[in-house]
Amino acid sequence: MQKKITKAVIPAAGLGTRFLPATKALPKEMLPVVDKPAIQYVVEEAVEAGLEDVLMIVGRGKDALTNHFDRVLELEDTLERKGDLARLKRVNASSDLADVHFVRQGDPKGLGHAVLRAKNHVGDQPFAVLLGDDLIDERDPLLSLMLDEQVARQATIIALMEVPPESIHMYGAAAVEATDNPDVVRVTGLVEKPDAADAPSNLALIGRYVLRPEVFAVLEKTPPGKGGEIQLTDALQVLAADPSIAGGVYGVVFRGRRYDTGDRADYIKAIVQLAVEREDLGLELRPWLKDFVHTLE
Ligand code: G1P
Repeated sequence: MQKKITKAVIPAAGLGTRFLPATKALPKEMLPVVDKPAIQYVVEEAVEAGLEDVLMIVGRGKDALTNHFDRVLELEDTLERKGDLARLKRVNASSDLADVHFVRQGDPKGLGHAVLRAKNHVGDQPFAVLLGDDLIDERDPLLSLMLDEQVARQATIIALMEVPPESIHMYGAAAVEATDNPDVVRVTGLVEKPDAADAPSNLALIGRYVLRPEVFAVLEKTPPGKGGEIQLTDALQVLAADPSIAGGVYGVVFRGRRYDTGDRADYIKAIVQLAVEREDLGLELRPWLKDFVHTLE
């Protein structure tokens, strides 16, 4: 019987060029969404789904990430002396969260290349990949459903979301067939960032995957694709086209709340949406936001 899936891989080596100069010295994954760095939401999501062994594939600026998931004794001491226990708890939340490991990507040669760097750590068990730019609202389950589908189908599971046809060129796009479950489709083909006219559907790959270890051998043979990078989508296309390799590819169709923190406007929207719903901030922000909206009219 397959062992329980426990490992999550989080590629975090992107250059964050869209956020320059904020990301000149800080990895984009450390940009705050309200008062937590974006990456912490993603690690929390993994842990919530039972994945407590987290491997981050990092590039430059690794120190900020390693430090965030480590303890800061001076800070803990100061907060403790001040009796600020609530803040102490929040500071310790990130270091107590999971067993976080790091590996360097070296050359940033694309998402497929980043995932391949996880090969030794992952071994021969299925594992999840979570992309840091996509935040999934914790009230809308996705990863746990994908893990269940992986166990049931012994296949590769991707997350798909309907996007407007004019946006599909920013995503991997899937050709699909229905299954007996309205929320699950069989993926017959995948193409990375197609022109709208060539897209097989408007079902976009969003940044959650549950992969089988066979993907590594496929990635090793995957040539550079779109943008000259080794694309995870291209390796998954090989697995979708030939189910005899690893049971094929299925997609869980997500209809919940997703925030794209990789895009500046969407990043700001994410912060506003999450902040107004917070107990400690919503009360102050909601009436202010309503007044502010009036000044725009
Ligand atoms: C990556 C993937 C793409 C996927 C997207 C989801 O692209 O290559 O297939 O649709 O993440 O966010 P990126 O956004 O890193 O360019």
